[in-house]
Amino acid sequence: MQIRTLTTADASALLEFELANRDWFESQVDARAPDFYNLFGVAAHIGDYLARHAAGTMHPCLLLEDDGAIVGRCNLKDIDRIARRAEVGYRIAATAIGRGLAGAALTHLMELAYGRWELRGLDAHVTIANAASARVLERAGFALAGPSPILARVAEQPLACLHYRHH
Ligand SMILES: CC(C)(COP(=O)(O)OP(=O)(O)OC[C@H]1O[C@@H](n2cnc3c(N)ncnc32)[C@H](O)[C@@H]1OP(=O)(O)O)[C@@H](O)C(=O)NCCC(=O)NCCS
Repeated sequence: MQIRTLTTADASALLEFELANRDWFESQVDARAPDFYNLFGVAAHIGDYLARHAAGTMHPCLLLEDDGAIVGRCNLKDIDRIARRAEVGYRIAATAIGRGLAGAALTHLMELAYGRWELRGLDAHVTIANAASARVLERAGFALAGPSPILARVAEQPLACLHYRHH
């Protein structure tokens, strides 16, 4: 397994990954807009993320199997160079869960955050129903900070979130 920064050349493979896992992700996290799910939508999404990367506010990454297939994504989001904090996010293919990939993704994001981006702390927002994600964060040393101001919408229902912090 390899983790690397997203590129414009990933559009077709990323669309395939997102389509194959759409139902799985929508059972756990906020649904994407319907117009995301075509090549134009994914290319625009990648363009937006790479522009944010170039501006220093985001670091978008892919997890790839040895054969090059995308098995997950992980992102440092809302990088704040003044507060020196960012938010972590990750999603793993339904066929690849339970292998420690989210843990590996989070380790990668923490190395980027504290190395490349010279941050001092990280935040995560997890729905109250996502025990596996909470476990991934706790194993990496994140601590529950309290209720999150973010309200997720999963399977068309509002779902409260918890705020986790690292430093
Ligand atoms: C949450 C998610 C990222 C976990 O990915 P993963 O690669 O399976 O995670 P890992 O294998 O690194 O670790 C999962 C941990 O949760 C534990 N776990 C799994 N299901 C669990 C459950 N229902 N309750 C409690 N712990 C659970 C596993 O045992 C493991 O802990 P361990 O290493 O101590 O045994 C994945 O399910 C996913 O992508 N879900 C959809 C998108 C999503 O929810 N993203 C996170 C948004 S905050």
